[in-house]
Amino acid sequence: MDSNTEHPQRAVVVGVDGSAAALAAVRLAAHEAARRGLDLRIVHAFIWPLMHVDVGASEAVPEGGLRHDAERLLAEAATAASATQPDVTVTTELVTGAPAAVLLAAARHAELLVLGDRGLGGFTGLLLGSVAVQVTAHSTTPVLVARGEEHAGGPIVVGVDDSPEGAAAIEAAFAAAERRHAELLAVRTWTYPAMATLYTPPVPADCTPVEDAERHLLAETVSTGAKLHTEVQVREQLVCGRPGRTLVQLSELAQLVVVGARGRGGFAGLLLGSVSQQALHHAACPVLVVPDPRTERTP
Ligand SMILES: Nc1ncnc2c1ncn2[C@@H]1O[C@H](COP(=O)(O)OP(=O)(O)OP(=O)(O)O)[C@@H](O)[C@H]1O
Ligand SMILES: [Mg+2]
Repeated sequence: MDSNTEHPQRAVVVGVDGSAAALAAVRLAAHEAARRGLDLRIVHAFIWPLMHVDVGASEAVPEGGLRHDAERLLAEAATAASATQPDVTVTTELVTGAPAAVLLAAARHAELLVLGDRGLGGFTGLLLGSVAVQVTAHSTTPVLVARGEEHAGGPIVVGVDDSPEGAAAIEAAFAAAERRHAELLAVRTWTYPAMATLYTPPVPADCTPVEDAERHLLAETVSTGAKLHTEVQVREQLVCGRPGRTLVQLSELAQLVVVGARGRGGFAGLLLGSVSQQALHHAACPVLVVPDPRTERTP
């Protein structure tokens, strides 16, 4: 039995809450489903029954009620998906539960989970909604967050470090570049070693050895993916600077930014690294967050 038969729901999943951001996520998800040849499942988490609220029609609103509203927003999302990609099979699901928990469960066997960066709630100035924060931090499935725009003709930008997520992110970025026939821009940043400590030793007069080592590491890391995806055109870029800021700058021209959920730094238990957080908060194009491949995905 192959994994598709075992998990007939293997698909692209998108979460909707009736917001414009979620509709943007639906359109992005429809394109992704078409690129991957998968079905699209549109999911709305319906929390009201848990709060003992009457969700049905009433005498006052015989055609209405919260359940009716939820079904309508799902139907609107399905219409938007089919208008974007008429050939993609679209299904909708109204699932009782809290949004993050429902989406994480729905995505467990999916190829990809797509979300908007914002939703209906939150306050102006919030850079990323709380559902998006929770889901990107806990998902064992890659999460694509719709934000900014996919700059047509731009590269797929991937941040390269030497963590397990970094390797998974590079593979996901190669696959994305291959699907989109786009150039892959693999970026590694470095800073002078002295900057990392309080007892700042003098900056070495010659940083060439450090730079050479970094360039070598970048080339090594990229070479595995390049062997598997020979048709992808790759450009390697070594930048002296901070990774988060660099990725955000490059996102101005990119179709997609790909990051690992967390990198080498940070403490155990930290769910999302600072670089992925900066990309999710500030990028000018959609961001794909790739989880730790060692995280168990329940069969
Ligand atoms: N009830 C839900 N069902 C399915 N998906 C949802 C639901 N709520 C949010 N989402 C998904 O998460 C994305 C981000 O929304 P989120 O709720 O995080 O932001 P927000 O509403 O602006 O902030 P907050 O909810 O923290 O006040 C939405 O665009 C949508 O894709
Ligand atoms: Mg919300």
